[in-house]
Amino acid sequence: MSTATTFYNFIDGRWVPSVSGEVFENRNPADTGDLIGLFQKSNAADATRAIDSAQRAYDHWRLVPAPKRAELLFRAAQLLADRKEALARDMTREMGKVLDETRGDVQEAIDMTYFMAGEGRRQYGQTVPSELRDKFAMSVRQPLGVCGIITPWNFPMAIPSWKIIPALVCGNTVVFKPATLTPLSALNFVKILEEAGIPPGVVNLVTGGGGDVGNALLVHDTVRVVSFTGSTEVGRTVSQAAAPSFKKVHLEMGGKNVIMIMDDANLELAVEGCLWGGFGTTGQRCTAASRVVVHEKVYASFLEQFVARARALRVGNGLDAASQVGPSVSRGQLETVMKYVSIGQQEGARLACGGHPLTNGTLANGFFHEPTVFADVAPSMRIAQEEIFGPVVSVIPARSYEDAVAIGNGVQYGLSASIYTQDVNRAFSAMRDLYTGIFYVNAPTIGAEVHLPFGGTKATGNGHREAGTAALDVFSEWKSVYVDFSGKLQRAQIDAAEL
Ligand code: UN1
Repeated sequence: MSTATTFYNFIDGRWVPSVSGEVFENRNPADTGDLIGLFQKSNAADATRAIDSAQRAYDHWRLVPAPKRAELLFRAAQLLADRKEALARDMTREMGKVLDETRGDVQEAIDMTYFMAGEGRRQYGQTVPSELRDKFAMSVRQPLGVCGIITPWNFPMAIPSWKIIPALVCGNTVVFKPATLTPLSALNFVKILEEAGIPPGVVNLVTGGGGDVGNALLVHDTVRVVSFTGSTEVGRTVSQAAAPSFKKVHLEMGGKNVIMIMDDANLELAVEGCLWGGFGTTGQRCTAASRVVVHEKVYASFLEQFVARARALRVGNGLDAASQVGPSVSRGQLETVMKYVSIGQQEGARLACGGHPLTNGTLANGFFHEPTVFADVAPSMRIAQEEIFGPVVSVIPARSYEDAVAIGNGVQYGLSASIYTQDVNRAFSAMRDLYTGIFYVNAPTIGAEVHLPFGGTKATGNGHREAGTAALDVFSEWKSVYVDFSGKLQRAQIDAAEL
């Protein structure tokens, strides 16, 4: 028998085992000998209990004044800040990205929680003149009820916070199903909410697979909102499964983000941006800069510098301060990277550096891979079209600005894009012409801040945005309210003669 710690679901304010009693292992992707713990392998029955608990808690929580709900969130933000280092270490251990980045992940959760707590006093509606004399007209936000929150492993605390915190401040209750690869960070987050005083049943955590727990959330009538971040393929099944019960569905899916480097760009700055954008989080960001489109006049020079810097990146265990790039999150993810390396080679792209898993010495028990650059990539190749979610960057030459914009837009996704140029006119034209949800000038495609809307166009999203006050639109809906204080029946049509 394993002596590893067992972690539980959180339902109705209590830490409980799954109905089946089954568990799954959580292992460190930098060292698979390191067993982090056993987590509940829940099924639809667990999800249903959690939904029932959230529904009961909703009766009370929706009536707690929003500024009071927010007070609990301020407390949670403070607890997150106090424990940032320990939370970051747990996160690196379970999903691999380097400590500096997991600190950033926790910081995003802190920032989001403070920001949304502030929104407790700012859930503005509209007051407008009525068409009738003694009548008042306004719109107010109302919560929807139980929210199903389904989150990925690449931002194990930031992304749950982007969804759960706005859901709570708006007065909803939550059933949270985190990725099976990162249950510890999810549990750490929920524990802090519990400690901050969020009442029993308002936040419920159910760990387990998407087919069991996730699907139960999608089909249950009581769940009124589903917020999902993950692949486009799974997002499609989420929206189909949720459609018959008319849930509000917020989807945040794949990306194939472009950095465009113009002939007048500061190349040194652009190289730095491409390294961070392409290989940060081992390329496992939906905002990762997996395509770099370079003006032909500076192509050779950029490529030489970029490849030299990519080769020099130190790959290793994220807990080691010397590491710059951690492992892929799982064997499956590493295999996807390897598959795309061979697809790129078959397609005729030039492998400029990397291309192999790393298994020497301390890397032997982890899912490490060399930072990989493909050069002379054609825009139509699969490595330039499909999301790889690994340390692989495709460099594509362009003849002109117009050519770069066409290549930039020529994918099914639309999350983030960037341009490096010194020409302000070009920067603004590109900002207008790239059909994405996020745009950067002289910075990589990553680094979104919590107080602005986050999300994408086309196959990246379904028109909603999270973060910023846009998140309130996902987790509340409008009620228009008319108050007639005339004491008689006023009718909506007034003749000009009556004015
Ligand atoms: C993601 O890639 O899934 O802008 C989220 C960024 C981060 C969030 C990324 N703040 O890269």
